[in-house]
Amino acid sequence: MLTGGPRFSPRLELRPFRRRDLDSLVDAAADSLPDLTKWLPWAHAGYGRRDALVFLRDSVSAWGEGRAFDFTIRYLDNPGFHVGNVSVWYISRQSRVGEVGYWIRSSETRKNVATEATARILEVAFHELGLHRVVLRIAAGNRGSERVAEKLGFTREGLLREELQINDEWIDHSIWGLLENEFFARQPEYVEAGWLTA
Ligand SMILES: CC(C)(COP(=O)(O)OP(=O)(O)OC[C@H]1O[C@@H](n2cnc3c(N)ncnc32)[C@H](O)[C@@H]1OP(=O)(O)O)[C@@H](O)C(=O)NCCC(=O)NCCS
Repeated sequence: MLTGGPRFSPRLELRPFRRRDLDSLVDAAADSLPDLTKWLPWAHAGYGRRDALVFLRDSVSAWGEGRAFDFTIRYLDNPGFHVGNVSVWYISRQSRVGEVGYWIRSSETRKNVATEATARILEVAFHELGLHRVVLRIAAGNRGSERVAEKLGFTREGLLREELQINDEWIDHSIWGLLENEFFARQPEYVEAGWLTA
């Protein structure tokens, strides 16, 4: 189980969602839909308040049940603005395996936000949840997300054929893994790069 308080990185605050995040979440999604619908199965052209409300409700109950942990990403100097989502959830509690997922508001991409937020979530995954292995699944062709995985030191382990249906098409995904000993060995580099606070 995770405590509900905020987590910080050099530029960011990551915290659990609250119901009053609805407007800022809807704004961020609306500003980003063409990019989100390309890669994420839940995103669709008409995504709006109703979808965001369902997400928020599920996010709060998933956190309470210890099933999945979604964080809203905020800039420390602009906390009312939703920059994106980063989440960690269990694949197997018994084997201590989890998965991380993220999306960043289109106006804020290519500023290392996904990399910094994911570095912080990996601390949560390995230190707080005690995971042994964390995976990312990345749609074929999503070079931006592959770069995030590469920068953080994940290993590309293979190809999952037709893993998810996106826009009515079955899309291959690569699977990337990071082990706890690899994370602990890399942590000083994350600090050096400015993605984690020492
Ligand atoms: C993919 C995504 C999360 C990246 O977020 P971000 O905050 O821009 O990521 P970062 O800035 O930390 O790193 C992105 C890297 O990818 C590179 N990149 C981004 N788009 C690229 C593209 N189309 N082609 C090649 N490289 C690309 C950037 O240059 C950067 O690499 P660099 O630091 O070596 O220059 C964001 O674009 C996004 O949310 N996309 C839509 C949803 C999505 O794909 N989610 C992930 C599903 S697995």
